[in-house]
Amino acid sequence: MDGNGRWARSRMLPRYVGHREGVKTVRRIVEACRNKGIKVLTLFAFSSENWRRPSEEVGLLMDLFIRTLKKEIDTLHKNGIRIRFIGDHSAFPGDLRDLIVKAETRTKMNTELDLVIAANYGGHWDIVEACRRVAERIAAGECKPEDITTEMIAGEISLTDLPEPDLFIRTGGEQRISNFLLWQLAYTELYFTETLWPAFDEHALDDAIRSYASRQRRFGRTGEQVEQLKGA
Ligand code: IPE
Ligand code: MG
Repeated sequence: MDGNGRWARSRMLPRYVGHREGVKTVRRIVEACRNKGIKVLTLFAFSSENWRRPSEEVGLLMDLFIRTLKKEIDTLHKNGIRIRFIGDHSAFPGDLRDLIVKAETRTKMNTELDLVIAANYGGHWDIVEACRRVAERIAAGECKPEDITTEMIAGEISLTDLPEPDLFIRTGGEQRISNFLLWQLAYTELYFTETLWPAFDEHALDDAIRSYASRQRRFGRTGEQVEQLKGA
C-alpha cells in the first residue's frame, strides 16, 4: 500500500492525511475482495524498515493503527472476516499488542475472508524466524541438517496454512517487492500500478485482476504443457 504521503503532498496536505485516506481505501478494498469471493487478502501496513521514518510519523501511524483497529473490529467481525497479523510485534506498544491478540481471538472462527495485516514485517525476518525454528528442532535432536527440505521451511514460515499468493499488487509507481513476502511470492504474479494507494478503488482492483486473468501461470512448465493440463 504505497503512495499515501505523495497523495497528500500533491494536495498540499500533511502526509498524515494521506495515511488517513489510505485507511478508507483499506475499508473499500476489504469489502470489494469479500464481495468478489477472494479468500485471502494480505496488506503490507508497516515494514520493519518503516521505523526509519521520522518519529513523529511513526507515532502517528501507530495511533492510526490503534484507532482503526478499535473502530473497525465490530464491522469486520460482523462481516465474517478473520483477521490475523504477521510480523515481529515485540516492538509495538502494549495496548496495540493487546488489541492484535483480541482481534485475532475474536474473529478466528470467521470464514468469509482471511485478512492478514503485515505489521513490523519483513521477508528476511520471516525466513530467519523459520530457519530458527528448524534449527531448534535440530538442536532438540528431532532431525539432522541434511533432513532440511523446502517443505520444512515452508511449514515454518508465516501463512503456511494459507495458499501461496496468486497476485501481488503494489501501488504508487515503484517496481519493487521491498522485503514483503519474499518466500511466499516465488510464483506469484506481480502487478505494479502508478495509482497512489488513497486513490486505489474497486475499478483499479478490477484492472489488476483482469491483468492477472490474462496471464498464463506455468510454474516452470512450458506453455504447451499448461494448455494440455488445462484440457485434461
Ligand atoms: C505507504 O505510503 C504507507 C506506509 C508505509 C505506512 P507512504 O507513506 O510510503 O507514501 P509515499 O511513498 O511517501 O507517497
Ligand atoms: Mg512509500
